[in-house]
Amino acid sequence: MNDTIILLKCNLAPGWRHMSDFLTTPGFLGTKATLRSDLTLVLILLTALLFNIGFILARRKQFKAHRWVQTGAVILSTLVVLISMVTSYIIHILPGIPAKLNQGDYAVTTVHGIIGAFALLLGVFVALRGNELVPKGLRFQNYKLFMRWAYALYMLATLGGVAVYIIVFVFGI
Ligand code: HEM
Repeated sequence: MNDTIILLKCNLAPGWRHMSDFLTTPGFLGTKATLRSDLTLVLILLTALLFNIGFILARRKQFKAHRWVQTGAVILSTLVVLISMVTSYIIHILPGIPAKLNQGDYAVTTVHGIIGAFALLLGVFVALRGNELVPKGLRFQNYKLFMRWAYALYMLATLGGVAVYIIVFVFGI
């Protein structure tokens, strides 16, 4: 992992090097994680909080506020997952699949990535549907079923991500 970071740093132009330094400096949570990973964790925990606030709003029948909160949480989590996690997965984990699946955090991170990908796809679809942005044929009416599945998968992906963080950056496995 460090070799890749050093190589990337050497090949970057000065402007990008500052960005790279910023993201590869030690994080602020006192673990072995970089600033990027700590920021990722905090932002995803923020989206998890938003999803739960949105859930409560739906229970209170405040549907407009519910829609805004969940749409914001879907957008934020999509950006964080694509920019930080999918990039990290492609650089650090994918080259070792399937040969290294029984080593380190390869298996747990891959399972997490698969659950996360389902959560993200369903979440984006439900958010688009909620904002009337899908073709007529895809406009499901059974909101409760779709939203509960999306919510459950997001929470599962978040718990899996926290487990990945602890395994990699607290225990250093
Ligand atoms: C809704 C979807 C997802 C949620 C809520 C989620 C949540 C999390 C959280 C909380 C962490 C710990 C923070 C960190 O270590 O940076 C994490 C780490 C990680 N996730 Fe996800 N994740 C999702 C989707 C994905 C997907 C689709 C992939 C890959 C295809 C993925 C790959 C990773 C990887 C590689 C890490 C370790 C990142 C690092 O280098 O720090 N995640 N995830």
